[in-house]
Amino acid sequence: MNRALPVVRLRVPTDEDAVAWHRVFDHPDVMEFHGGKSADLSVYEELTARQRKHDAELGFCLWTMLDAEDRVIGFTGAQPWPREWGPKGEIEIGWRLGREHWGRGYVTAAAQMTLERVRATGVGSVVAMVNARNTRSIAVTQRLGMHLAETFTSPESDLLGYCYRLELRQT
Ligand SMILES: CC(C)(COP(=O)(O)OP(=O)(O)OC[C@H]1O[C@@H](n2cnc3c(N)ncnc32)[C@H](O)[C@@H]1OP(=O)(O)O)[C@@H](O)C(=O)NCCC(=O)NCCS
Repeated sequence: MNRALPVVRLRVPTDEDAVAWHRVFDHPDVMEFHGGKSADLSVYEELTARQRKHDAELGFCLWTMLDAEDRVIGFTGAQPWPREWGPKGEIEIGWRLGREHWGRGYVTAAAQMTLERVRATGVGSVVAMVNARNTRSIAVTQRLGMHLAETFTSPESDLLGYCYRLELRQT
């Protein structure tokens, strides 16, 4: 891809960002692989609070993404894999973007910043867990140079997923 990536800024989610995430993600396309319907505000209150804790303890988290006009457009970042099944103990990278912001390269730009920041903390590798039908998210993993490590069936949705992995060479 030869185009310059768009300007994007990452910040540790604030209290108010729970409301912004709730608003920005309130679209069926965005939630297609996250339960199929919009989540309650309380879900984002818990999620943003958990990210502030990760940032304090680890130096990275799922960050709020802001565009050039400082509008909240989604989140991208890294966190310890949060479930009882799957790659326990590993660092997961993840992304979610408001529907109107798809197709502009925001997440690829934010994910590259994420990899640099996570690498700087000494983490050796990251995974991305993606529903097998989520072609847009799979495309992000490919733009980042991730490789397919394994396939899995989610115990939550019973759907097929792919675990992608990237080694972070320390430079
Ligand atoms: C997955 C998701 C984040 C991908 O969003 P996206 O906009 O396709 O991804 P990027 O931000 O990397 O943008 C890449 C797209 O922008 C286009 N683009 C436009 N201008 C660009 C630029 N200057 N630089 C790079 N790409 C650009 C690319 O061509 C590509 O579009 P295409 O696939 O139609 O060719 C988004 O679909 C989403 O939020 N889905 C719902 C939540 C979700 O499923 N999250 C993942 C769970 S695993």
